[in-house]
Amino acid sequence: MPDLLQAALEARENAHAPFSNFKVGAAIEDESGRIFRGCNVENATYGLTLCAERVAVFKAISEGARKFRRIAVAADTSVLTPPCGACRQILWEFCGDIELTLVNLQGKTENFQMRDLFPRPFDASFL
Ligand code: THU
Repeated sequence: MPDLLQAALEARENAHAPFSNFKVGAAIEDESGRIFRGCNVENATYGLTLCAERVAVFKAISEGARKFRRIAVAADTSVLTPPCGACRQILWEFCGDIELTLVNLQGKTENFQMRDLFPRPFDASFL
């Protein structure tokens, strides 16, 4: 299994999901090949929960990464789990039209381009 998918699956193990019991992992690779991992981190107020994808992106940004090649998202579902709407907005903002791979615990994968998952985005070009 490619490193990025393995990293997403491993990150999923760290999920803090006591309310939903739905664990998600993400791993994003920057232009120099650095991999940043994220997991969902839930909160008792629910609304403050952060998804795995946003944790991975924000970790990468906070470490100085700026250009990204691809992201992998791992969850334990037979129909592979896609990023939520909020994460699609954040992924578009920071990563643009990168390749996104979904993976489950059985190793099933599906590849997408962000432009197909997030058509007609609002972004800084409108400001
Ligand atoms: N979640 C993610 O981390 N990423 C996704 O792509 C979908 C949803 C999390 C948020 C919440 O902690 C749990 O999964 C259930 O929605």
